[in-house]
Amino acid sequence: MRPHVICHMTSSIDGRALVSLWHPTDAVPTGLWDSARARIQTDAAIMGRVTALEYTQGNAPYPATDETVERIDFLPEPGQGRYQVVIAPRGSPAWGRCDIDGDRIIVAVTESTSDSYLAGLRSEGIYYLFAGEDDIDLPLVLDKLGDLGVRRLYLDGGPTTSGRFLHAGLIDEVSLLLLPALDGYTGAPTIFEYEGERDKPPFPVIGIELTSCEVLDGGVVWLRYSITNETER
Ligand SMILES: NC(=O)c1ccc[n+]([C@@H]2O[C@H](COP(=O)([O-])OP(=O)(O)OC[C@H]3O[C@@H](n4cnc5c(N)ncnc54)[C@H](OP(=O)(O)O)[C@@H]3O)[C@@H](O)[C@H]2O)c1
Repeated sequence: MRPHVICHMTSSIDGRALVSLWHPTDAVPTGLWDSARARIQTDAAIMGRVTALEYTQGNAPYPATDETVERIDFLPEPGQGRYQVVIAPRGSPAWGRCDIDGDRIIVAVTESTSDSYLAGLRSEGIYYLFAGEDDIDLPLVLDKLGDLGVRRLYLDGGPTTSGRFLHAGLIDEVSLLLLPALDGYTGAPTIFEYEGERDKPPFPVIGIELTSCEVLDGGVVWLRYSITNETER
């Protein structure tokens, strides 16, 4: 069973996503992310390679190998706990850890991911799953997470990754923390980014319904929307 995907993002009031650029600089109340995340109640989170760098900065790349690594998923038995899934098919980052806050890391890769990267992941006991030959097959990633027992998945961004899920018709819910802050500059990423022509093909969202609206400490507004997608791609 494919998990229910909740895209949980933080935005300035001008819709931007890079918190470090906002003014005022102290708009994020202490503990905001952890408390909201605890209330969303998911069994796994998924993020893009760039967001994952926040957990891996400064690590040297994995060493080259002559080994050929079999293209078979390296995954735990179903129902073994919580996971942090990272989409990183191009051979970085090197981790130096196999969990984030106690949640085991799973890296989504493709058949064309390098042997060196797969061997490096294996050497650190990091799980990986194959989804696609050259390009990541997002529905397949979700199906494999569903097979592991993941029922509710927190889509943690960043904007590029959220944009790809949105355009693939794979987001069931948007959870948005709107902070009293402004970015104020042209070109800073918004919470969904996707490069493509506007109507070739259009992305499949056909309905957005507000399901809750809550004012939190520090003037934060927490909006939750359910999303209806026309068809699955
Ligand atoms: N406001 C918020 O709520 C929020 C949440 C999370 C992160 N952020 C911020 O967002 C920034 C990073 O966002 P970002 O948009 O630059 O990057 P990102 O979404 O974190 O990562 C994008 C990268 O992930 C890989 N990837 C993701 N989906 C893929 C797919 N379907 N197929 C193949 N590869 C895929 C690609 O890696 P390759 O480049 O290796 O191909 C892609 O370039 C950080 O500054 C972070 O702090 C904000």
